[in-house]
Amino acid sequence: MLTDNQPRVPIAHLPTPLEPLPRLTAQLGGPALWIKRDDQTGLATGGNKARKLEFLVADALAGGADTLITGGAGQSNHARQTAAAAAKSGLACTLVLRGAEPPQVQGNLLLDRLLGARVVWAGDRPLAEVMAQVAEDLQKAGHRPYVVPYGGSNPIGASGYVAAMEELLAQCAGRDLHFDHVVLASSSGGTQAGLVVGARALGYGGHILGISVDEKADVLQTKLSGLANATANHLGLELTFEPQEFGVDDGYLGGGYGVVGNLERAAIHALARTEGILLDPVYTGRAFGGLLDLIRQGAFRPDERVLFWHTGGTAAVFGYASELR
Ligand SMILES: Cc1ncc(COP(=O)(O)O)c(C=O)c1O
Repeated sequence: MLTDNQPRVPIAHLPTPLEPLPRLTAQLGGPALWIKRDDQTGLATGGNKARKLEFLVADALAGGADTLITGGAGQSNHARQTAAAAAKSGLACTLVLRGAEPPQVQGNLLLDRLLGARVVWAGDRPLAEVMAQVAEDLQKAGHRPYVVPYGGSNPIGASGYVAAMEELLAQCAGRDLHFDHVVLASSSGGTQAGLVVGARALGYGGHILGISVDEKADVLQTKLSGLANATANHLGLELTFEPQEFGVDDGYLGGGYGVVGNLERAAIHALARTEGILLDPVYTGRAFGGLLDLIRQGAFRPDERVLFWHTGGTAAVFGYASELR
């Protein structure tokens, strides 16, 4: 295993299911669509952060931490899964969330509360600044805080998706399957960078396409190559990456981060009503909407096999009830 030399705690339910989407495939007339169910990783309703947290929490515990700190949006899936990982590991958790407390505590924010996390609202201040302040205050009070980076996207967290690519390829080998394309939502970059490092290390020849959730392609590609190089180095793999090697489509940014439009709504309805699978409004709804649009534009041949990597986030649907009804 590529990540065998790394400390890791068992947090996620792995391997996640790999399933065909026969009804949606038939409705669209191809390509053959499949889904990798990382919405089923466990950890307080699942998602991609569970894989990253297996490595991040192991690092925190190895350093003697007693508290996890992380940050994100008010409906952050990463914050919710970090709160759950902390609870499961006997650690305290402080979440620094953007903006002010909303009048209604719903979706991921409700789960943050149920999981016992302390929430600090950052207002307009940069998250990193507030997280550093929270860490300093906890240290002064005699605690040993561990700061989990935004989105869990550093080389330690991204190692979770190097291992995930290994998991996928083992599932494919066992079922004599090959995917021509893997499509996923990409934002802080740890998921896509990890998958691409794993793909290169293991000789996967398909195309990996990140649908950008919130950044222009060149910005995300630069971030992805930096993270992939650092991750390969962290794992002792002699691989180097250039920004243009990362497949990124920034054609679906819509109204900006967290703004639900027709693309996301229609994608959520399509997958729910043909296959009984829920997407989230911010990440996977946008990415799946992009995939459906690319299929309609003829970006894939009908005889190709395309895997959508479901990265979770479904708890957020409750936080967006009024936009999704
Ligand atoms: C549901 C979901 N999908 C995708 C992503 C993007 O993953 P990454 O930040 O590793 O690019 C996130 C990040 O928060 C997420 O919560």
